Amino acid sequence: MTSDAQYQRDNNLATRIAFHEDYTAPYVDFSHWVLDQLPLSDGQTVLEIGCGNGEFWVRNAARLPTDLKLVLTDSSAGMVEVAEQRLSDAGLSATYQVVSAEDLSADTESFDLILAKHMLYHVTDRSKALAASRGLLKPGGYFCATTNSGSYMQQLQALLTEEGLEWFSSFNDEFTLENGADQLGWHFGKVELEVLDGQLVVPDADAVIEYVKSTASLFPEPGLLFAACATIRPKIQAVIDRKGAFTISKRAGLFLCQ
Ligand SMILES: C[S@@+](CC[C@H](N)C(=O)[O-])C[C@H]1O[C@@H](n2cnc3c(N)ncnc32)[C@H](O)[C@@H]1O
Repeated sequence: MTSDAQYQRDNNLATRIAFHEDYTAPYVDFSHWVLDQLPLSDGQTVLEIGCGNGEFWVRNAARLPTDLKLVLTDSSAGMVEVAEQRLSDAGLSATYQVVSAEDLSADTESFDLILAKHMLYHVTDRSKALAASRGLLKPGGYFCATTNSGSYMQQLQALLTEEGLEWFSSFNDEFTLENGADQLGWHFGKVELEVLDGQLVVPDADAVIEYVKSTASLFPEPGLLFAACATIRPKIQAVIDRKGAFTISKRAGLFLCQ
C-alpha cells in the first residue's frame, strides 16, 4: 500500500493532528510526551525520518535542549517544504532532505538520536530502513520509533467493520506496538517500550467523519470509505445524542532502541 497520494502535502495529516488536539481527553500533547521520553541533551545531532510537516519540532520549540543540530527528512517533497516553513516560523533551524528511509546513505554524518514518529508502518522495506538508520547512529546513540496499537480506535473500527470495511485501521498493521519489538530486535540489541493510553471524546459527528475521510487515500478503494461515511454518521450522531459524545480509545507508544 503506497502512502504517496496521502502525503503530497500536509492537509490530511493536519486534519488528524487537529482531531487529536481538539478531542483528546484528558489532554496529553503526544509530541511533548515523546520528547519527555527521549535521552536528548544540549548540542546533540538528531535525524528525523518521515518528518511530515515538522509537527514534533514546532510543538516542542520552546522545550528543546539548546544547540541541537537537526536533520529532517521525508520521502514527500511537499511535506519537507511545509516542515521547513513551519520550523522557520517557529525560529528553529535545521537541514532538510527529501529521501526515503530505505535510501538513507551511510556517508551522511552520524547521529545521537534518530526519530521515526508514526511512519515505519508506511515504509515498504522496513528492514532496509532500520539497517540504514542503525548505520547512521553514533556508538551509544538511540533510535526511537513511535506507533499505534493494532487495536487503535476500536469503536470507529467497529462501526466501519459493520459496513464491510474491516481494513480501515489496517494501515498501521505492518508496524504496531504489538509487532514492532520483534522487527526492531533484528537491528538493535536493546528495545524498550513505553505505552500511552488515551481517548478521544468527540461531541461533533462531522469531526469524526472528517477524520475518517482524511485517511481515504491510504486505501486502494477510497470511494468505499466515503460511501460508508454517509452510513456511519447517523450512528455516531445517535451515540452523541444519547451520551453527549462519541468516545474512541487509542493506545500509542514509543520504542527506544540502542
Ligand atoms: C503519519 S505521517 C507522520 C509524520 C510525522 N512523523 C508526525 O508524526 O507528525 C507519515 C510520514 O511518513 C512519510 N513517509 C512515508 N513513507 C516514507 C518512507 N519510505 N521514507 C520516508 N518517509 C516516509 C510520509 O510522507 C509522511 O510524512
